[in-house]
Amino acid sequence: MPAFATPPVAPFAISFDHEAARLEPEGPTLTRRMSDLEGLFADHEAWQAAVADGDPVVYRVQSSPVPEVDRELPQSITTIEPGTTGGELWMTKGHQHPNHQGEIYLGLHGAGGLLMYDGTRHEWIDMAPGTIGYIPPGWAHRSVNTGDEPYSFLAVYPGGAGHDYGWVLEHGMGARAYRTASGHELRPWS
Ligand SMILES: [Fe+2]
Repeated sequence: MPAFATPPVAPFAISFDHEAARLEPEGPTLTRRMSDLEGLFADHEAWQAAVADGDPVVYRVQSSPVPEVDRELPQSITTIEPGTTGGELWMTKGHQHPNHQGEIYLGLHGAGGLLMYDGTRHEWIDMAPGTIGYIPPGWAHRSVNTGDEPYSFLAVYPGGAGHDYGWVLEHGMGARAYRTASGHELRPWS
């Protein structure tokens, strides 16, 4: 029997609680506080002040138990709190898949954006409940809460894709998303 026919996980049902934005059974939950986002906001002093002022939770990622290993298909729900630091909208760290593979995000609650960068070009997709954002292989991706409520989305991705956060620190994301009087706008990377 070929190896791919004997994955480590047996078939099972996952309850998708849309209202609560949760997956059941639960796998690991990742909590990212402001202090975990060092070097990512343009305004370093504003970031330091936010860390000193309670180090708030910026986002959480709740996963199903499907492991992040090659040929598996894990899922997770990310919820980003609303807020700004130095005017820049709260966001995920962003990452590149070192093993270039695609991914989909499905908007569940709130208003957000999906910022992608391939090292030369950046793209932005407005995310709302029901929107599927497609991330092609080779595009680093970051999610942003553009609204006044928590923004949640479901991610489905190849288990062997990996998460390279250092890529964003080295190359940036091509643009930054800021709060404006009328909503939000993208500004050139700085
Ligand atoms: Fe990803």
